[in-house]
Amino acid sequence: MRNKYTIFLCLILFVALVVIEKENNIISKVSDKLSLKQPPLQAGSLDWISVRRNGSNVLLSDPLYRYTNRRLENFTELFEGGLLSASASNGRKHILLLATTRTGSSFVGEFFNQQGANMFYLFEPLWHVERMLTLEGGRTNATVSASAYRDVLQQLFLCDFSLLESFIEPVPQEHVTTSLFRRESSQSLCEDPVCTPFVKKVFERFHCRNRRCGPLNFTLASQSCLQKQHRAIKSVRVRQLETLRPLVEDPRLDMKFIQLVRDPRAVLASRMVAFSKNYKNWKRWATDGEIPDDDDEVRKLKGNCDNIRMSAETGLKRPAWLHGRYMLVRYEDIARFPMRKAAEMYQFTGIPFTSKVKDWILKNTHASSEVSGVYSTQKNSSQQIEKWRVTMPFKLAQVVQKVCGPAMTLFGYKFVENEEILSDLSVSLIEDMNFL
Ligand SMILES: *[C@@H]1O[C@H](CO)[C@@H](O)[C@H](O)[C@H]1NC(C)=O
Ligand SMILES: *[C@@H]1O[C@H](CO)[C@@H](O)[C@H](O)[C@H]1NC(C)=O
Ligand SMILES: *[C@@H]1O[C@H](CO)[C@@H](O)[C@H](O)[C@H]1NC(C)=O
Ligand SMILES: *[C@@H]1O[C@H](CO)[C@@H](O)[C@H](O)[C@H]1NC(C)=O
Ligand SMILES: *[C@@H]1O[C@H](CO)[C@@H](O)[C@H](O)[C@H]1NC(C)=O
Repeated sequence: MRNKYTIFLCLILFVALVVIEKENNIISKVSDKLSLKQPPLQAGSLDWISVRRNGSNVLLSDPLYRYTNRRLENFTELFEGGLLSASASNGRKHILLLATTRTGSSFVGEFFNQQGANMFYLFEPLWHVERMLTLEGGRTNATVSASAYRDVLQQLFLCDFSLLESFIEPVPQEHVTTSLFRRESSQSLCEDPVCTPFVKKVFERFHCRNRRCGPLNFTLASQSCLQKQHRAIKSVRVRQLETLRPLVEDPRLDMKFIQLVRDPRAVLASRMVAFSKNYKNWKRWATDGEIPDDDDEVRKLKGNCDNIRMSAETGLKRPAWLHGRYMLVRYEDIARFPMRKAAEMYQFTGIPFTSKVKDWILKNTHASSEVSGVYSTQKNSSQQIEKWRVTMPFKLAQVVQKVCGPAMTLFGYKFVENEEILSDLSVSLIEDMNFL
């Protein structure tokens, strides 16, 4: 009798919950999440590059997409033929902050997000592209991703969201979405007029934090973008700077690349904490056992380091196409001298270094024991940067030094020979470098 009663109560509770959740659109959200878990695309055939647009599957190489490429070629031709000059951008600057995860790029991105009314800033728009192009087993085809990243970035710098929209799941309806990744990290997407009146029944996962807004209307975002003097995008997803050459050659854009790097040993240490699920092998190696030379994880680390190094080598060689457009910055220098480095970055981009940015830097590089989420940008930078040295097992540092050696040498990160030097914070591992 009692059991029956309990079951009955549970049933009522369940029904009530379903009703409430339906109201809030949460259930549909959850099922979106579940269906996303399965790799949307199959490897092995050409049509795995298919991208959902307008609710149906189309090939990336479909006419719209090819149009983007052709248009690009046309502009490249005009540019090379000298018919258009680079001044077609009207003094407008297009800044791309290139980094990898756990290099402090959210923090450095804020330097531009905080600039003020003249800046249109986007935080990791390529998240959607990567997600859509991820194959079974979590891999992506580098060639395909590179062209998709390039074309989406090019459109975004021109305030055109249409290609990005085709990568967003679920597909935006009438250019309106509730699913833009980390919308709240772009001030430009949370201010008037992009912030439309709040809609009670609509659930938006990455909603604006500073105020309540309706779902994101890309038409409004695009209009706002067109009105801003400058545009900046941060991305941890581009692997090779070289692949972005067509952006430089687009006369409508005045590109400025800032590549942010960090000691790969510190990056690994930080990733093992932040993405702990994906770093189980590293954690096991840290506590016991040999680290296999030919492990997939080690190869992945090497691949990452090689990409970063090759991009930097491309930039530092100063080829004609990158003249005045490339700057390399180490996270450690920013953490130690945030104001000086920010000023240098602004000088490089040719944009006024506003007092709003200065105030933000002052506020966020000092005092703040209370905020310390893993994605937090607010921390005592100079104190944080060397913490990894006392916790990272020497064994792991050794592996990184082995596979990322050339990158470390290029960026001026000193090798350590033993555990004592690794954890002795009076020994600096950062060589003074001048990449200018
Ligand atoms: C998407 O669908 C709308 C109407 O349903 C149509 O007008 C538009 O041309 C379509 N866009 C693409 C890219 O197919
Ligand atoms: C590119 O140029 C060709 C010839 O100049 C022209 O026919 C074509 O429409 C252009 N394509 C685009 C996408 O502008
Ligand atoms: C990536 O995709 C391209 C274009 O479809 C294909 O030619 C190439 O073989 C793929 N590369 C890998 C490693 O699968
Ligand atoms: C998005 O904004 C544009 C521009 O104001 C407007 O015309 C359009 O109706 C809006 N879309 C929706 C679905 O509200
Ligand atoms: C931040 O770290 C620096 C260097 O360790 C230290 O001098 C400073 O007092 C710290 N500031 C705060 C507010 O903790």
